[in-house]
Amino acid sequence: MKLEKAPSQTQTTTPLLEARGVSLSFGNVRALVDVDVTVAPGEVTALVGDNGAGKSTLVRCFSGVHAPDSGEILFDGNPVRFPSPESAREAGIETVHQNLALVEDLTVWQNLFLNREHTRFGFLDRRRMRREAQKMVSELAVNVPQVTSKVRRLSGGQRQAVAICRAAGFSSQLVIMDEPTAALGVQETARVEELIVRLKDEGHAVLLISHNFDQVMRLSQQVWVMRAGRCVAGRRTDATTGQEIVGLITGAIQD
Ligand SMILES: Nc1ncnc2c1ncn2[C@@H]1O[C@H](COP(=O)(O)OP(=O)(O)OP(=O)(O)O)[C@@H](O)[C@H]1O
Ligand SMILES: [Mg+2]
Repeated sequence: MKLEKAPSQTQTTTPLLEARGVSLSFGNVRALVDVDVTVAPGEVTALVGDNGAGKSTLVRCFSGVHAPDSGEILFDGNPVRFPSPESAREAGIETVHQNLALVEDLTVWQNLFLNREHTRFGFLDRRRMRREAQKMVSELAVNVPQVTSKVRRLSGGQRQAVAICRAAGFSSQLVIMDEPTAALGVQETARVEELIVRLKDEGHAVLLISHNFDQVMRLSQQVWVMRAGRCVAGRRTDATTGQEIVGLITGAIQD
């Protein structure tokens, strides 16, 4: 199979994130087969493919959930290994997973600071966390009732916004979002899309998994297509069409 290498070769800057020949099997299931993708700094990179193509598995390799069986991951040009989600996070990679990891019975600010609580004299510094949470939420213009509200009272879109806010804060360089708008209505989707554009404008790189072609065409600068565990094509978004992407996903178009 011929892989589309042009996008990475024409990039003048070092990719922020790169997978080189990444493979991973779960027993007999070859979830990832020799995957090469790059994520450029300051861009929205889309990762598309049918159900089971391997998108979430690849993202989990980037975020320290899975270790690849073989291949390399480079971050800022350096080979990296993330033995845990915390280690990926420390390196500057934040992930909003397909199944949101928010705790319903905690408040917005508690979720934002989960596992990175501020303490003062050995006690939780709630005032500081509430204050900083408020700042994070207003900086990203996230529409939530109050940072003291319980997450269980929020709508799907508001929860997604909190999760993105959490990922965008804490000086992450790369924010990975696995189908952030799949469960959202039209208006909530529009708000989350605004957030994605804002993140990019503020200099974050975004890796966006989406089944929504309009969204991919509107928001991304680069698209990688996965099929049955392989990355079968890469395109600059302005040099392709939704129709071509669909063909590449289904295999009707062979790259
Ligand atoms: N933890 C796991 N154990 C066993 N098999 C897995 C595991 N995670 C994923 N798989 C398998 O790996 C393949 C790729 O799954 P993955 O979740 O990466 O697909 P995806 O592209 O994210 O699909 P979707 O669009 O439906 O989210 C599938 O065949 C899936 O069943
Ligand atoms: Mg998935």
